[in-house]
Amino acid sequence: MIHTRLHSNKQSAAQAVAREIADLIKIRSKSGKPTVLGLATGSTPLPLYAELIRLHREEGLSFRSVLTFNLDEYEGLGADHPQSYRFFMEANLFRHLDIPAANIRIPDGLAKDAARHCADYEAALRDAGGLDLQILGIGRNGHIGFNEPPSAIDSRTRRITLDALTRRDNAVFFGDSTQIPQGALTMGVATILEARRVELLAFGEGKAEIVARALNETPSAVCPATWLQHHPACTFHLDAAAARDL
Ligand code: PGA
Repeated sequence: MIHTRLHSNKQSAAQAVAREIADLIKIRSKSGKPTVLGLATGSTPLPLYAELIRLHREEGLSFRSVLTFNLDEYEGLGADHPQSYRFFMEANLFRHLDIPAANIRIPDGLAKDAARHCADYEAALRDAGGLDLQILGIGRNGHIGFNEPPSAIDSRTRRITLDALTRRDNAVFFGDSTQIPQGALTMGVATILEARRVELLAFGEGKAEIVARALNETPSAVCPATWLQHHPACTFHLDAAAARDL
């Protein structure tokens, strides 16, 4: 069952989710345990990352005990490519925190053997004890991570081909649409569902229709976000525009 939480704007949603993350880190680090976070890219989580940076700078929240696993990466893009998700995460979050570099994992878009790399990624996640909390956005086609339709409930970290709507939506970041990679590496639906908590953020009217579908449609691979209905602790954090069709 998915809980919905309506926020007055994306900043207040970001503050609420950042506070949950901060509380989790503090509770776990008190008992000497790491916190394992699943992180997302795209424009949606930017206010959340800005708030986490503020909590670090102004309230002394430390990320030394945090391990992170990003959802996905474009195939063929390395850390120095400005549109790679590795580059995005360094610029918008990691370089502003005290998280040790060794604690950060993002699928490697340049991996020679993608299948093996993805299996290793799943193993690293298991070795870390699984995800305590996963941050998600949602694509207008219902993707979570880059689990494009159709993505099965038992899908694992793998290489996928990006669909036309995703490539169109993300073209703005690349300037020249021919530069958008055809493929990506993404955690699977099953990988995401195993997170102990899932916090999905969606803002703006462009997300209203897909948010309503994710909450109301019978779960199926056609709209991968519907699989979240099977998660025991998933919250959709919405502004009024994204909640328009509920
Ligand atoms: P967005 O992307 O945050 O840029 O809207 C969300 C997603 O595709 O998951």
